[in-house]
Amino acid sequence: MAERILVTGGAGFIGSHVVRLLVERYPNSEIVNLDALTYAGNLENLRDVEQRPNYRFVRVDIGDAAQVDALFAEMAFDGVIHLAAESHVDRSIEDPLAFVRTNVIGTVNLLNACRRQWKDAMEGKRFYHISTDEVYGTLGKEGLFTETTAYDPNSPYSASKASSDHFVRAYGETYGLPYVVTNCSNNYGPNQFPEKLIPLFINNIRIGKPLPVYGDGQYTRDWLFVLDHALAIDLVYRQGKNGETYNIGGFNEWTNLDLIHLLCRVMDRKLGRTEGSSAELITYVKDRPGHDRRYAIDATKIERELGWRPSVTFEQGLEQTIDWYLANTEWLENLTSGRYQEYYDRMYGGR
Ligand code: NAD
Ligand code: DAU
Repeated sequence: MAERILVTGGAGFIGSHVVRLLVERYPNSEIVNLDALTYAGNLENLRDVEQRPNYRFVRVDIGDAAQVDALFAEMAFDGVIHLAAESHVDRSIEDPLAFVRTNVIGTVNLLNACRRQWKDAMEGKRFYHISTDEVYGTLGKEGLFTETTAYDPNSPYSASKASSDHFVRAYGETYGLPYVVTNCSNNYGPNQFPEKLIPLFINNIRIGKPLPVYGDGQYTRDWLFVLDHALAIDLVYRQGKNGETYNIGGFNEWTNLDLIHLLCRVMDRKLGRTEGSSAELITYVKDRPGHDRRYAIDATKIERELGWRPSVTFEQGLEQTIDWYLANTEWLENLTSGRYQEYYDRMYGGR
């Protein structure tokens, strides 16, 4: 094999799209998928590539230094693409320490393992840390997040991601570890766990459950199709400059309410329901504490320096996403039973 790349969090939403892309694009590279298989990790997401000779799965919890060190003692890596994280803001409000353990300590455990393994030969190695636009805090009506916007995280999730970003940078400055960081906006697409807005609402419309809109619904997010994020990740891994940060976004801002109404219209059409019937499920619920009003990314640096742009429009991406969930109801039903239902009842008061 030409190279061995470790992808962490490869059984999750974005990670599974990254693993598939790399396995298919680089048959001479070995892609090792590290994942603890938490509630968010699902090997079903990778059934189509699991038999490929250049794919391997290892079950490792990055919060446990001994497990990480044992893996690095067994295998040498040319690069790490680090996506493993606790990723849901509402869960971080319930249990911040789980986010510190995985997102902060887990990242430092990986950095230590790379530093030890690469200490005599940093040349050509790379630690690629996948981060989020949430580290920049919130925007008012105007402006965009750039790579030089000051960090100002507001949720335990974004505070843990900001902390891990700082550790990555510090390992670059202090130990000379070659790294690159990207901060991306909200992703959507197939295989996203149905606790996040778009898959949760698709599923609720499908089964006729209320659509819980937080606060006044006038919060704004910048949506990017997951495959376009995976393509950007491959590009940055190959061509990004060491020590640099790149913002990745969809050039695609929507208020939650406008997005929900669009989703309802497309779902009415796909399900052959009377226009307006899905929108009747909209229910206003208590707001998320510390809810960031607006995120929007200025992605001109990655466009200018690496030639990346989103390849699908929001309408195309949303159609593909809805079609995937409607064709994969078994995938949804496996996830939305059992412990997830307990979380749902606690979160949304049994609605
Ligand atoms: P996800 O929750 O769908 O997947 C996370 C994966 O990490 C899961 O497979 C889970 O099993 C694994 N994991 C969790 N804790 C672990 C541990 N201790 N050890 C090993 N594996 C563990 O998340 P996602 O939405 O795919 O996000 C992936 C990354 O991208 C995260 O770092 C997230 O912060 C970042 N990100 C996400 C978005 C988004 O919109 N989803 C946007 C920007 C950045
Ligand atoms: O911006 C990037 C981030 O996007 C990622 O770093 C996170 O991992 C990812 O979860 C996402 O965070 P958000 O908090 O923006 O995503 P979420 O899907 O949870 O919520 C999107 C918006 O919808 C937000 O304003 C809250 C609102 N919302 C969400 C849920 C789950 C609702 O109104 N009702 C809901 O039930």
